[in-house]
Amino acid sequence: MTEINIRAASDADIPAITAIYNDAVANTVAVWNDDIVDEENRRSWLQGYQVPGTCALVAEDAAGALLGYATYGEFRHYDGFRHTVENSIYVDGTRRAGGVGTALMQALIEHARDNGKHVMVAAIEGGNTASIRLHAKVGFEACGTVRQVGTKFGRWLDMTLMQLML
Ligand SMILES: CC(C)(COP(=O)(O)OP(=O)(O)OC[C@H]1O[C@@H](n2cnc3c(N)ncnc32)[C@H](O)[C@@H]1OP(=O)(O)O)[C@@H](O)C(=O)NCCC(=O)NCCS
Repeated sequence: MTEINIRAASDADIPAITAIYNDAVANTVAVWNDDIVDEENRRSWLQGYQVPGTCALVAEDAAGALLGYATYGEFRHYDGFRHTVENSIYVDGTRRAGGVGTALMQALIEHARDNGKHVMVAAIEGGNTASIRLHAKVGFEACGTVRQVGTKFGRWLDMTLMQLML
C-alpha cells in the first residue's frame, strides 16, 4: 500500500495541482469549468486558500510525488455563513481508489474542527458515485439534489449537497 503523507499546499505544488485540475476539467464533470488553465491561474487560486478560515492540503507519496489535493473555504459570502465551509477534493487520475481521498478528507475535517468550523458542505455532481461514497465514508449525510443547475459536455448536471456536522 502506498504511503500517504498529508501537508499544507505550497507554491512548489502548483505544477502538479495544475495538471490534476486540468485533467478533471478536460475529462470529468467533477468541476463545472470548460477551459483548462495555466499555472498562474492556480497560483492565485491557491492564495485564496492561504488566508484565515480556509485550508489547502496536498497528499504525497514517500517519494514526494503529489497524489491529490483538497481545500475548504467560504461556503457563501454572507456574514451568517461564517461557521460553514465548502470543500473540494481531487486525486490524480492514476492514483484513485487507493485511500488518498479518504486520507485527505480526514485531515481536512480535523483542520476545520481545530479551527472552530461548525459545518462542512460538499456540492457534488449527482452522478459522481466515487465522491458521494467518499464523503459518506467520512461521515457526510446527503441533504438533497438540486436538478439541472449545471451544464457541461452538452448535458444538464444535477448538484447533490452533502454535509458534515463538525
Ligand atoms: C472522488 C475522489 C476524490 C475519490 O478519491 P479516492 O482517492 O479515489 O478515494 P478513496 O480511495 O479514499 O476511496 C474512498 C471511498 O470512495 C468510494 N470510491 C472510490 N472510488 C470509487 C469508484 N470508482 N466507484 C465507486 N466508489 C468509489 C469507496 O466507497 C471508497 O471507500 P472504500 O475503499 O473503503 O470502499 C477521486 O475519485 C477523484 O479525484 N475524482 C475526480 C475528481 C472528483 O470527482 N472530485 C470530487 C468533486 S466533488
